[in-house]
Amino acid sequence: MTTLVSPRQHLLMPWTVQEREENVLEFDYGEGVYFYDRQGNRYLDFLSQLFNCNLGHGNRRVIAAIQRQAAKASCISPQIFTEERVALSKQLAQLAPGDLSKSIFVNSGSEADDLAFILARMVTGRAKIFAKYRSYHGTTLGGLGVGGDPRRAAIEPGPPGTVRFFDPYCYRCDFAKTFPECSIHCLDALERQLQLENPATVAAIVVEPVTGAAGGFPLPPGYLTRLRQLCDKYGILLIADEVITGFGRTGKMFAVEHEGVVPDMLTLAKGLTSGYVPMGAIVVREHIARYFETKMLPLGSTCAAHPLACAAALACLEEYTPELLANVRRMSELLFAQLSGLAAKHRCVGDVRGQGLLACLELVRDPTTKAPLVPPNTDSPIPLQIRRLAWDDGIHLLVRGSLLILSPPLIVQPEHIAEAVEKLDRILAWVDQILSSQAD
Ligand SMILES: Cc1ncc(COP(=O)(O)O)c(C=O)c1O
Repeated sequence: MTTLVSPRQHLLMPWTVQEREENVLEFDYGEGVYFYDRQGNRYLDFLSQLFNCNLGHGNRRVIAAIQRQAAKASCISPQIFTEERVALSKQLAQLAPGDLSKSIFVNSGSEADDLAFILARMVTGRAKIFAKYRSYHGTTLGGLGVGGDPRRAAIEPGPPGTVRFFDPYCYRCDFAKTFPECSIHCLDALERQLQLENPATVAAIVVEPVTGAAGGFPLPPGYLTRLRQLCDKYGILLIADEVITGFGRTGKMFAVEHEGVVPDMLTLAKGLTSGYVPMGAIVVREHIARYFETKMLPLGSTCAAHPLACAAALACLEEYTPELLANVRRMSELLFAQLSGLAAKHRCVGDVRGQGLLACLELVRDPTTKAPLVPPNTDSPIPLQIRRLAWDDGIHLLVRGSLLILSPPLIVQPEHIAEAVEKLDRILAWVDQILSSQAD
């Protein structure tokens, strides 16, 4: 008799209560916008795994570049340059807006943000980092502690000097105002908060141009421009966390380009290598790079700028063509039109928002009162049930609290959007049904 052994027997799973994960999904292989589990079931990857597989699965050119690099050189001290590392830094300098022209490579988005916070403190000699309440900046002590996402509970009170401010979360405005009549009142509030904190103690303000898993909403038009002005007024550095939004996700190479804003630091990961090899980067402006010409940069890590990651990133950059970005914009229009249709049909959809191929449905118990499906900071089985339902129906997406987040690979086509919408229709009908049965 054989005994079934759980694949998680010797594993601790991220972001979950372990015993809830008995029914794990075991990835076998992927092709384009689909992937397959070990039982041969097919899934439409409407999350690009975790916002990272921008180019879809099995991209032959990226795979070949990694293979070539592995055969050539794959184990190198971070203090020794490679042709690929130099070429990648040059390409990022050309792609990034303004004088964002020097890169530091790391192994993840968390490290990129953590390091950006440290650099900001060093360069300004100031201690405080301002971050939005609904934000996620990674899982390290610095990243998790600065981000406002409830996951920060793991390490509260977090790094000293962290200050949080209210978001431009227009669906549930913290100031009970409405955009655009509000003239982005939340930035006036932020300025007052800066003054009360003493702006001369603030090193940086960090924002995601489109909040990912912590809120799923874009910054409203004009927000980044005014935030840049605010930072300039008080000598505060602006960090744009483009770990999710970088590399075409919003229809431009970087989301800050929608407003023509140049942050002082751009943090990147995920799409940089499309998830084929782990890599993150901090791209800094000249004034920050200059500071370290004569001062020690005491930061680095053994596998940073790993040759396989550099090769993967270079190959990915070749794939992020103007045609691919145009596809993102086209598919985005189609996706949001279809999602609005679903919102009109299902009572549980309170809001549809996003930018490019990053979309969020906010689920509510009642669209009139906007009572959330799962109140913030509460533990509920519903998100896991929705994820299970989605997997059973052959679609991979993110469910966090009341948010259902979609971010398909940028190569997605109309037939994939139609397939996703059909599956979402069934999922939302299930949510409608459990809500009406609870109301009975
Ligand atoms: C906006 C944002 N910043 C940082 C991170 C951390 O990146 P990583 O998971 O690569 O450490 C994430 C991860 O999802 C993210 O969404």
